[in-house]
Amino acid sequence: MEYRFAERVRNLSGNAIREIFKVLSDKEMISFAGGMPAAQCLPAKKVKVFADELLSSQPVKMLQYGQTEGYLPLRESFLKYVENVGIKGYGVDNALILSGGQQGIDLMFKTFCEVGDKILVQNPTYLAALHIAKTYQLRPVGFECGEDGVDTEDLERKIKEHNPKLVYIVPNFSNPTGKTLRLETRKKIVEIAEKYGVVVIEDDPYGRIRYKGEHLPSIKSFDKSGCVVYLTSVSKTIAPALRVALAVADEKIIRKMAVCKQAVDVQTVTLTQAVVDQFIRTGEIDRGIARSLPLYREKAEAMLAALDKYMPESFVHTVPEGGLFIWGEFTDGTSAKAKFREAVENKVAFVSGNDFFADGSGDNTMRLNFSNATLEQIELGVKRLGAIFSK
Ligand SMILES: Cc1ncc(COP(=O)(O)O)c(C=O)c1O
Repeated sequence: MEYRFAERVRNLSGNAIREIFKVLSDKEMISFAGGMPAAQCLPAKKVKVFADELLSSQPVKMLQYGQTEGYLPLRESFLKYVENVGIKGYGVDNALILSGGQQGIDLMFKTFCEVGDKILVQNPTYLAALHIAKTYQLRPVGFECGEDGVDTEDLERKIKEHNPKLVYIVPNFSNPTGKTLRLETRKKIVEIAEKYGVVVIEDDPYGRIRYKGEHLPSIKSFDKSGCVVYLTSVSKTIAPALRVALAVADEKIIRKMAVCKQAVDVQTVTLTQAVVDQFIRTGEIDRGIARSLPLYREKAEAMLAALDKYMPESFVHTVPEGGLFIWGEFTDGTSAKAKFREAVENKVAFVSGNDFFADGSGDNTMRLNFSNATLEQIELGVKRLGAIFSK
């Protein structure tokens, strides 16, 4: 049958990483492509203990319909938890539990944007944000990242030029670049957002995964006027398949997002919300993070050393202080995209950087994930990449 698909999905191809997942089923493939936490960091036993307790003590509550805004104890405990990034003085009406942080981006675009609207994103940015923008027929425009992730002069210039309603920023150990905004940049972003009446989406799934240096306050912590919507998720700090995340924003925004969420999935799964609540209240979330950090540091250092050993001179890369990614660039214009197939044939996968640019540029860049490979795989996989790119 010739299906008459909606205009907004007619030219939509799959999210590039989800497509790459298909080739990763090969057992010999060494993958630096995903953004998965290390398998040994997934706390199956603790999840089981908490879920058992909750199902025994509150079976009806766990399995019955709940509020769209989220399980009340979790809204309270999560709000308390984000006080550690300076988000203080908010009540439960400022909090919405999401089925993953990605849903927060989706609900924000849905809540604020009309077909054809422009939004500003880092250049490069999280590719799912670009993908979601496409589903709403928006026009993402990139601003320069500069050294720390946001070139505030370019941001201001682009706001004046394009008059966007929304700016999307990943502040810590950004996906894809691994960059982290300096304190001054965070303050300046709020100043600019307030000056031009633009709402900033601060998407922070990686902030707690810091294995070097000091934690910084969130952009939201400088917000006095309600111009920042803060998103965080437990996907990288507990487990991604729980699908639990948090939005903190002005009540008026939370109400609109909740109305849109009602239409999408009614509510986030109560059982996983309650499990996350237990992780936060018992401090288990922080103990889990503390256990994972030395492992991530070791893997990051192993990958950085292997890149310096095997990749050609023209390859430069970021040196992140946390998160799960290293970003590389060929200064001689070598196309990572053109070599992707050859890499997969040689059983090593990465994500070609162009997928992260609003304008599709960046063929000479690549994103490498180190969290989900073993140290041996990191050495061998980068060696394979080195052989391919040194030809
Ligand atoms: C920047 C960024 N935002 C959001 C997400 C989505 O996370 P979740 O699993 O909470 O939907 C990711 C996941 O990789 C991410 O890198």
